[in-house]
Amino acid sequence: MRVVVFASGGGSNFQSLIDRFAAGAGGVVMAGLVASRETAGAIRRAETAGIPWMVAAPGGDSRGETEDEGAFLARALARLDADLVVLAGYLRLVPPQVVRGWWGRIINIHPALLPAFGGSGMYGARVHEAVVRSGVRITGATVHFVDEAYDRGPIIAQWPVPVLDGDTAASIAERVLEAEHELLPKVVAALAEGTVSLDGDGRVRWSRPWMEGRRFRADPEA
Ligand code: GRF
Repeated sequence: MRVVVFASGGGSNFQSLIDRFAAGAGGVVMAGLVASRETAGAIRRAETAGIPWMVAAPGGDSRGETEDEGAFLARALARLDADLVVLAGYLRLVPPQVVRGWWGRIINIHPALLPAFGGSGMYGARVHEAVVRSGVRITGATVHFVDEAYDRGPIIAQWPVPVLDGDTAASIAERVLEAEHELLPKVVAALAEGTVSLDGDGRVRWSRPWMEGRRFRADPEA
């Protein structure tokens, strides 16, 4: 399964996939990176790993052509021969034509337990600041299939992370990011194995209980 990652930031989730699937482990090949801006730290990680990358923006390809962003992305995915698109800290809305064309083959990772603390404007520190303000005692990470709205779409898997006394948005972000780095490669591996899929009614089906055999890490120090 050829995986293309879309990222806007530092790309630590992208790195978790590079590390897990180095040299095509589990039949997963990291086929490319689409960055939403040239300053994305993820680009450096792609270069280090020898993964092709490009910047997605109208007119943003290397030949300076101007074209619609959706058409640009669709063409890039075809050229990279992608099977799965992973949004990992991608701050642009994926154009509807790409979402429709790739329905069931685009996933997103979000640093909270959706449908809480998601949606337009809920990214980065804002998510964890809202978590602190709300007083919830559990947050976590969610991986879901992408539809046309931010952070909506069928949920594939979630991982809980406790909120502790004295936590700040930064300390929660750090703890959640660790969970993200475990959860995202597990979901990509499950999609590659075919143990999880999206049925015709838009419901996620696992052929085995998805948390089976996995320790619930209630204690962040454990
Ligand atoms: C992660 O928290 C991810 O869930 C969110 O953006 C952050 C990206 O971090 N969508 P990184 O760029 O993968 O380090």
